[in-house]
Amino acid sequence: MSYQFPSDFLWGTATAAHQVEGNNINSDFWVVEQLPATIFAEPSGDAIDHYHRYPADIAQLAELGFNSYRFSIEWARVEPEEGYFSPATINHYRRMLEACHAHNLRPVVTFHHFTSPRWLISQGGWTAPATAEKFARYCGHVTQELGALIEVACTINEANIPRMVRILWSDPQAAGQQAAFLHQASAAFGVTPENFAPFLFAGSEQGRDVILDAHRQAAAAIKAARAALPVGMTLALSDMQAVPGGEATRDRYRHELQDIFLAATRNDDFLGVQTYSRERFGPEGVLVPEEGVELTQMGYEFWPQALEATLRYAAQQTGVPLIVTENGIGTADDTRRGAYYRRALEGVVNCLQDGLDVRGYYAWSAYDNFEWMLGYRPTFGIIAVDRETQQRTVKPSARWLGEIAQANEL
Ligand code: BGC
Repeated sequence: MSYQFPSDFLWGTATAAHQVEGNNINSDFWVVEQLPATIFAEPSGDAIDHYHRYPADIAQLAELGFNSYRFSIEWARVEPEEGYFSPATINHYRRMLEACHAHNLRPVVTFHHFTSPRWLISQGGWTAPATAEKFARYCGHVTQELGALIEVACTINEANIPRMVRILWSDPQAAGQQAAFLHQASAAFGVTPENFAPFLFAGSEQGRDVILDAHRQAAAAIKAARAALPVGMTLALSDMQAVPGGEATRDRYRHELQDIFLAATRNDDFLGVQTYSRERFGPEGVLVPEEGVELTQMGYEFWPQALEATLRYAAQQTGVPLIVTENGIGTADDTRRGAYYRRALEGVVNCLQDGLDVRGYYAWSAYDNFEWMLGYRPTFGIIAVDRETQQRTVKPSARWLGEIAQANEL
């Protein structure tokens, strides 16, 4: 049985500026990647030089069969010093957006994908209340300049991930290395370790409130510049499951890590759902994957069923339209990537058949790229990149997904 997707369904791949552009030297991450005690496996460097290679890259994505492309605009490039908005950078992103339109790729733009300008961190970063207004000012400026070329705007990528880093993933065994890193990193920005708050480090309740306020103010600034532009944020939504007896614990974590954020999207035009795997909870907290289950390069489970579960949960909690803004797998075995996408998309179909308002699907990622602290080792791309030559090689999963997109049918 094949299923025909709605005629305006968005099919795309996603990237983030810092992970693909290269030489994002005015960003906070660039600084901390270079420190002697860095917690990054390697620096981002040239990344995959998407900053210069976007014309061929965008043409290739269109050729594969997609009708959309999700990428992020880099705040640290647009506003490298506070209050100075670089016209050349704006023009760069204008050319990128125009290239998308020339190839019939509808551009979905993220205004913040983890990295921030250096100066913001020196001013207290994502736990300083004034950051919300500064972020909104940048979003307003970009929308005034480029809004007419943007189809969908995501304010903040994974607004809940700092809380996840703090509450779920902090590793007590790495505390020593973390302390040395924090000492060097905070000194590099002239702040105390307690006030060191790049986005991913802003996992306190205060950080959460600043991030949600930044989303609200940014959405208003974007709407003020172009009222018709659909605006939302994206959330990292893993399928949080309870083993028998773990229900109350799961619910407690899910409240902190998902529900509070889902509730904050109710006035938005859509929610971006980003799902990779599941997390199982017992009475004491999160459980490690069971013996013998298939793991991805990230150490978490191969669990494409997660997407259907998170879409259903998000729909029930928010009532707003949903776009799958990221879904994918880090694996060296592209046949497993294909299997993952097929199962995940079957979940999307089940949701659509049940009447859920799901408007698009974006594979993470278009390219093998800079996977943050883990460097270039995990490979999420449907297109491989030789970083010596910057040559792109299309993987079979890219062809398969592109054909599904073209046919608009699974
Ligand atoms: C992020 C991406 C990241 C991906 C895979 C998401 O949390 O938005 O930047 O590369 O997951 O780990």
